[in-house]
Amino acid sequence: NEIKIFCPATIANLNCGFDVMGLCLEGIGDEMIIRKVAEKGIRITKIIGADLPLETEKNVAGVAGLALLNATQSDFGFEIEIYKNIKAGSGIGSSSASAAGAVFGINELLGKPFTKHELVYFAMKGEVVASGSEHADNVAPCVLGGFTLVRGYNPLDVIKIESPSEIYAAVLHPHIEVKTSDARAVLKPEVSLKNAITQWGNLGGLIAGLYSKDYELIGRSLNDVIVEPARKHLIPNFDEVKNAALQNGALGSGISGAGPSIFALCKGENIAKAVAKSMSDAYAVTGIPFDIHISKV
Ligand code: HSE
Repeated sequence: NEIKIFCPATIANLNCGFDVMGLCLEGIGDEMIIRKVAEKGIRITKIIGADLPLETEKNVAGVAGLALLNATQSDFGFEIEIYKNIKAGSGIGSSSASAAGAVFGINELLGKPFTKHELVYFAMKGEVVASGSEHADNVAPCVLGGFTLVRGYNPLDVIKIESPSEIYAAVLHPHIEVKTSDARAVLKPEVSLKNAITQWGNLGGLIAGLYSKDYELIGRSLNDVIVEPARKHLIPNFDEVKNAALQNGALGSGISGAGPSIFALCKGENIAKAVAKSMSDAYAVTGIPFDIHISKV
């Protein structure tokens, strides 16, 4: 009647797939303990590591959990303890980890009445509390693992993308705040046909490269001519960090989600370590504190 779960961090967008692509970081994440109790509803009883609201309807885990629970006939409820490691506003899916963790854990304790694809839908309801919009580019990889594509939202159509086994991510997290709303406000609502063609060519290339395990093709496709140029000024030394990653063997590099974290994808752990070192050196000159992590994807 109790479950302890790991809630992984995620990288959304992956350059060419703004609002649709995402991947799961196996080695970075929060923990959650979920307990079945007699009292109906969801209660958040403890949050360690972050200053977040305990009220169910103001908490992403609470809202996502309730969305799932309300879709069942349960005459009991659940208590949730959240142990945060992923900083809110870091760009690696902090709220998504809590939303996805809640629905995954409750579904397990209920005897798995819902499929993982259905869990993505409930988790997305929790995301609204954090960002004001229903988006699944972080919750989908968090629930399904690996790489995912949100093909469409009406109805929600999420696809798990096969990928090669040797991909590692280096993620540099500058200790500055970039609000998702601000990072979205700098985007123009229209794109040129020329840029759209480049972007969907790259997204197709990325998907093809992941399926065919063609690392060169994955690398060639990890470009963004629409969102990165508009957002990169929000992150000090972004170009220097990205160029350092590419020069030291990364397949590709870019802004993680809405930022400020910067990611680089690499073939193998040793390259990821060298890339992480070069990114750290390139960022350190800013004098702004940061942390850096390496994770298998
Ligand atoms: N796709 C979203 C963005 C992720 O880049 O704005 C952040 O929630």
